[in-house]
Order: sequence, then structure tokens, then C-alpha cells
Amino acid sequence: MKKRHPKESFVSSTEFVLPNDTNTLNNLMGGRMMHFMDIVAAIAAQRHSKRIVVTASVDNLNFSKAIKLGSVVTISAKVTRSFNSSMEVHVVADTEDNMRGIKERSNEAFFTFVAVDQNGRPIDVPEIEPETEDEWKFFHGALKRRQLRLLMAGRIKPEDATELHSILDLNA
Ligand SMILES: CC(C)(COP(=O)(O)OP(=O)(O)OC[C@H]1O[C@@H](n2cnc3c(N)ncnc32)[C@H](O)[C@@H]1OP(=O)(O)O)[C@@H](O)C(=O)NCCC(=O)NCCS
Repeated sequence: MKKRHPKESFVSSTEFVLPNDTNTLNNLMGGRMMHFMDIVAAIAAQRHSKRIVVTASVDNLNFSKAIKLGSVVTISAKVTRSFNSSMEVHVVADTEDNMRGIKERSNEAFFTFVAVDQNGRPIDVPEIEPETEDEWKFFHGALKRRQLRLLMAGRIKPEDATELHSILDLNA
């Protein structure tokens, strides 16, 4: 399968925070942001794999700033690395408060998607070929993050998390 560049999967979408999206403090609800991020990340994974994709896990989802009613939020996503059937997607959200003229990073997360066939069975996807320094940094970090999430999900044993041996006490 021909390798693909991260930029080929890049997706960006802009949302306007409306009353139906907010809580009683007039801030964007966390679940709504998760929905925005999941959709954008899924499109990135689908662009990379040209397959049906399902969300397998979400990690390091940060809500570092409250997002006010009337803000404009831009969510961007790109595949950082693929393995067999799974792909790690880095997603960021940047929020503009038009009244104050401020734009800042409000959210960030790593999503994992699995490409599946019509029967929902995992299917192999193309490898990633990074181009920029940043893309290489995410590519190299992705193996460590994969092992950490599979370990936390109970899908691999500590001895198989080879990239984490320096931080795991295997005799504990
Ligand atoms: C994700 C899913 C397809 C994995 O199926 P499975 O039978 O466990 O398949 P496998 O054990 O062969 O794993 C397939 C891949 O999923 C990855 N995976 C499975 N669970 C994972 C998890 N919790 N976190 C990250 N990756 C995971 C595996 O590492 C493997 O990756 P690889 O092929 O790149 O090595 C299956 O669990 C599923 O359909 N889950 C429901 C998905 C869903 O409904 N999402 C929400 C709506 S889109």
C-alpha cells in the first residue's frame, strides 16, 4: 500500500458556539466539544485510510479554557501515525473570542480510529510518511502513546510495552 503524508489527512472545521451548545454558565458543554472533535478526527482518519473508521479510544483530552457563548471554534486534525488497522489522530481546537479579539488553544487530544470492512472487522491501512519536523516528532511519539493506551486498556502486558520499560517498574 502506498504511504500517505499527514497533510493528506488534514481537516479543519469552524463552529459558532450557540445557546443550544452551552451549559448554565453560558460556556460550551464538554460533550459538545468532544462531538466536534470526534467528527473532525474521524474525517481525517477516513481521508488517510479511504475506509469506514470507528473511534477506538480518546486520550489526553484537555479542556484548558472555558469557551463562551458566541465564540468561534476551529477544530483541526491530522493523522500522526498508522499501525496495522489503527491510526492515531492529533486534534486541536482554537477558540476566538471576537469581542476581546483573542484567539487561543482551548483543547487538544489524541484519538485512535480503527479502519473496518463492511462487517466491522479491522482492515489494514496505509503507512504514514512524515514531512515536517513537527510531523516527525508526533510520528516518533506515537508508538509510546500507543503502548501506553493499550496497556491502560489492558490490551497488552507491561513486558510487551517495550517503549515504556524505562518508566515502568516491571518487578513491582
Ligand atoms: C475498535 C474495534 C474495531 C477493535 O476491534 P478488535 O476486535 O478489538 O480488534 P483487534 O484486537 O484486532 O484490534 C484492532 C486494532 O484496534 C486497536 N485497538 C483496540 N482497542 C483499542 C483501544 N482501546 N485503544 C486503542 N487502540 C485499540 C488495536 O491496537 C488494533 O490496532 P492495529 O491493528 O493497528 O494493531 C472494536 O473494539 C469496535 O468495533 N469497537 C467499537 C467502536 C465504536 O463503536 N466506536 C464508536 C462509534 S464510531
